[in-house]
Amino acid sequence: MAGLGTKLKAVFAMANTFARVWTTRHLGATPSVIPFVYLDITDRCNSRCRSCSIWRPREPGPAELTTEEILGLVPSLRALRTQIVSIGGGEPLLRTDLETCVSAFREAGCAVHMNTNALAIDEARATSLTEAGLSVAYISCDHPDPDGYREVRGVDGLDRVVSAIAHFQSGPKAIPVGINMVVSRLNQDAIERMAERCIEWGVVKAQFIPVHGLLRHRSIDRRSIEPLLPQTKDLPTIKAALRRATRRLRHSGIETNSEYFIDLFERAYEPVRTIPCMAGSLFVMINPFGDVVPCYQYGGRLSIRGMPLEEIVRSEAFRKQRHCVAECSIACWDSGSAEPSIRFHLPYLLRHPIQIYQEARLHLG
Ligand SMILES: C[S@@+](CC[C@H](N)C(=O)[O-])C[C@H]1O[C@@H](n2cnc3c(N)ncnc32)[C@H](O)[C@@H]1O
Ligand code: SF4
Repeated sequence: MAGLGTKLKAVFAMANTFARVWTTRHLGATPSVIPFVYLDITDRCNSRCRSCSIWRPREPGPAELTTEEILGLVPSLRALRTQIVSIGGGEPLLRTDLETCVSAFREAGCAVHMNTNALAIDEARATSLTEAGLSVAYISCDHPDPDGYREVRGVDGLDRVVSAIAHFQSGPKAIPVGINMVVSRLNQDAIERMAERCIEWGVVKAQFIPVHGLLRHRSIDRRSIEPLLPQTKDLPTIKAALRRATRRLRHSGIETNSEYFIDLFERAYEPVRTIPCMAGSLFVMINPFGDVVPCYQYGGRLSIRGMPLEEIVRSEAFRKQRHCVAECSIACWDSGSAEPSIRFHLPYLLRHPIQIYQEARLHLG
């Protein structure tokens, strides 16, 4: 009976969050909650991925947020009832204060996710992160073979990915691991083999991300990204492989992309919008220098260096940015934006309530 009570409470909390986010997005209400915060905690990286601009040389910019500035987010996270802080970068493991930040977010009542290349994970670092309260580790792995991995990500690293998965999954504070694979022309023939490896590794989630030149990657030189973009003639084959891979994963009990996302996979490369994007209502993004945007396509200079996050998202300037999102016609099928938006799309939610409930339980730690 207690189990049922807990489940009902969780369902009620989810419905409440949904209603609040929905009224902000569709009725223009001032946000009372921001359930997800994507925090890119550093702009440095120790990998050399061909799809990414972050490691490439560029003009010196502002200083990264200090530990104190990051910890200063905590009162706003509480006020905005943030449920998940998703830490990315750059490579978050390069920050020596990562554990301090994880532990502060956890104490604020948030589940803490980390997107990482895992190159710097050894047993000690995995232990310090899980002891700090990390909820889930999402490890990027773009190829199931060592040579393929090196070709796509520019460094040797598959062995480290495999050992990192084992480190996170073992020990007294073991946590679930997910895998993110960016699908490009370099690995489109390895999608199903990647799914098999994910099953073998015992991960809880395997997500496929269409390579793109948007969001943080829009600063990448077209000449670097062009050879990676799938060719139009290959899209049906890629989609078929993704369908088989995601079905296989789902049958093995592993969370993966929504069928809706896969059905519309080519939307990543076509200027058509399908569902309302929830950027700025369901989630916000904070860059390594403190600037807060609904999504990296939009945004001015609202920084947590000048104003608390809570005030930023409720400001008139940020409301205008949400308006840009509502009017947005850019082809964007980035998993980080599209997949949560799909789950908050009422027709999808009504068709897949159990799937969404189960996913939420995993994500909320
Ligand atoms: C920018 S990385 C930051 C976190 C960490 N360094 C990592 O690699 O997981 C976040 C995610 O973006 C993915 N990514 C890199 N380049 C991309 C591109 N051009 N299009 C889509 N996703 C990309 C990465 O593989 C990773 O899963
Ligand atoms: S995708 Fe991640 S690991 Fe690869 S270069 Fe970009 S930030 Fe670094």
